[in-house]
Amino acid sequence: MIQDFKGTTAVLTGAGSGFGLECARIGARLGMNLVLVDVQQDALEAARREMEAAGAAVLARQVDVADAAQMEQLARDVEQRFGAPHFVFNNAGVGAGGLVWENSVADWEWVLGVDLWGVVHGVRLFTPMMLEAAAKDPAYRGHIVNTSSMAGLLTPPNMGIYNTAKAAVVSLTETLYQDLKLVTDQVGASLLCPYFVPTGITQSDRNRPSALASGAPTKSQLIGQAMSEKAVSSGKVSAAQVAEMVFDGIRSNRFYIFSHPKALGNVKSRMESILAIENPADPFAERPDIGEKLRGQLRS
Ligand SMILES: NC(=O)c1ccc[n+]([C@@H]2O[C@H](COP(=O)([O-])OP(=O)(O)OC[C@H]3O[C@@H](n4cnc5c(N)ncnc54)[C@H](O)[C@@H]3O)[C@@H](O)[C@H]2O)c1
Repeated sequence: MIQDFKGTTAVLTGAGSGFGLECARIGARLGMNLVLVDVQQDALEAARREMEAAGAAVLARQVDVADAAQMEQLARDVEQRFGAPHFVFNNAGVGAGGLVWENSVADWEWVLGVDLWGVVHGVRLFTPMMLEAAAKDPAYRGHIVNTSSMAGLLTPPNMGIYNTAKAAVVSLTETLYQDLKLVTDQVGASLLCPYFVPTGITQSDRNRPSALASGAPTKSQLIGQAMSEKAVSSGKVSAAQVAEMVFDGIRSNRFYIFSHPKALGNVKSRMESILAIENPADPFAERPDIGEKLRGQLRS
């Protein structure tokens, strides 16, 4: 596990906003070299300027994490500039909602592209570099943190694409953890599952590629957008606090990093339903009004 971050290198995707930006700020304070990756050029540029002003050595790359060739070029650039990274944060993500049968092929391609394939590329490109560094240097320590969501563990209604992508990231990252344990003690993995935290996530459309443009939103999509805006904007835990949790998770080699451990009661209910072979429980059991409101709006 990494204890001393000074002089080590972090690759952070989605570094222009939210959790990625806050992790970059901590990395700069700790004296890390920073590889800032984002698709949104102005946000990336602002982050680059801020981190350089804070004294960090920065490589900033405008990359769409869903794009295999762009990610391959990124990996080559990182290797050339800093060598193998020590902390890889596969974090860039976008959200889309609505009843699951109403989503278009473009909706699926966009969200699975960023939220799942972005993580796949980060894992397949950076893990071998980290393992090679570990084999060469017994003192090398590396850690990969993938951002999923409580949605990946709870399966809430009216946000099926996002749930699907995030559940796949849970599976991918748990497998990564198990696979790493087979081959090394020098590289670890963690899964970040935030609940509702105020960031730019509900304005994800700002970075939607025109080739995957959405059609006119359906009623369920409009309802979903309004509900997530409300839930995210009223979140009490800040993105900066979540970023501190990420670094604490790396230091203590903790796999599951939860922004809101109290929400785990809902995960417990879901697991208990599975084990009891009962139909799925309400994912927001302590707030039955949420399901009632959704049902009311969708059936009216
Ligand atoms: N905020 C929450 O409540 C919450 C809850 C659960 C999970 N998450 C997850 O946290 C992660 C970070 O999101 P955030 O909340 O900080 O939101 P955010 O919108 O503030 O930050 C996401 C960043 O990813 C970038 N991005 C979007 N598409 C990209 C692409 N194709 N390639 C590269 N970069 C891209 C955006 O430009 C943005 O800078 C996401 O994976 C999100 O799904 C957020």
